[in-house]
Amino acid sequence: MPNLQQSSQIKSKERVAQRGEVFTAEREVNAMLDLVENECLRPDSRFLEPACGDGNFLSAILKRKLAELRRKYKKSPRDYEKQSIVAIGSLYGVDIMNDNVLACRERLFSIWNEEYTAHCKAEACDETRKAAKFIISRNIINGNALTLMCVDADGKDTSAPIVFSEWSLISGTQMQRSDYTMSDLLTYNDTSVENGMGNLFALSEDQKEEGGIFLRRYITHYKKVQDYGE
Ligand SMILES: C[S@@+](CC[C@H](N)C(=O)[O-])C[C@H]1O[C@@H](n2cnc3c(N)ncnc32)[C@H](O)[C@@H]1O
Repeated sequence: MPNLQQSSQIKSKERVAQRGEVFTAEREVNAMLDLVENECLRPDSRFLEPACGDGNFLSAILKRKLAELRRKYKKSPRDYEKQSIVAIGSLYGVDIMNDNVLACRERLFSIWNEEYTAHCKAEACDETRKAAKFIISRNIINGNALTLMCVDADGKDTSAPIVFSEWSLISGTQMQRSDYTMSDLLTYNDTSVENGMGNLFALSEDQKEEGGIFLRRYITHYKKVQDYGE
């Protein structure tokens, strides 16, 4: 008798042997997320899944965040839209397998897109959809979480470091994108209690500006993030 739960958690014996690819079951994902229940409700609380596969944790977190936004912004599709883009921008993943990265990006976008249509009773406009796709493509990275480098189609390190963008709404509809290498974030990350344990971008302003940590910054309308930088 095949074990159904096991078969949905494994794609092939080769992938398990080569990359340790065993996906976490939904029940375990939700039990773990229940431990950080409140963080999963805030649109701007950031999560990094360093070996994200096709996004079992990230997609469950996104669903929780969007459910909360739906409850909070019942009568305001505009606020829902803006905050749902913040929620998308709060989720980061790295995986060495390109097919997993593509599946994870597609999955996050579909969840966001379907929820948007259900809540706003209309499809998002092209610009907003492009913004959501762009942010997801920057946040879910085909890379090696051990060497902190991007990888090629064969999973081999390239010369490009993994770079994460910090997305923050700075006023009204203005979104700021600040780029940092994952290596610098891990080196200079301040995990003191005041900064929140494990807050990926918990660097002091001095740390951000000094020592070449900070790479580049763009500020634009949240619907136009795709028009600046790659
Ligand atoms: C055990 S699976 C977990 C997937 C997902 N986090 C989950 O819980 O369902 C491990 C994942 O790590 C990826 N992986 C293996 N080595 C990696 C590395 N050095 N850097 C990034 N991802 C890696 C594999 O491709 C696989 O998708």
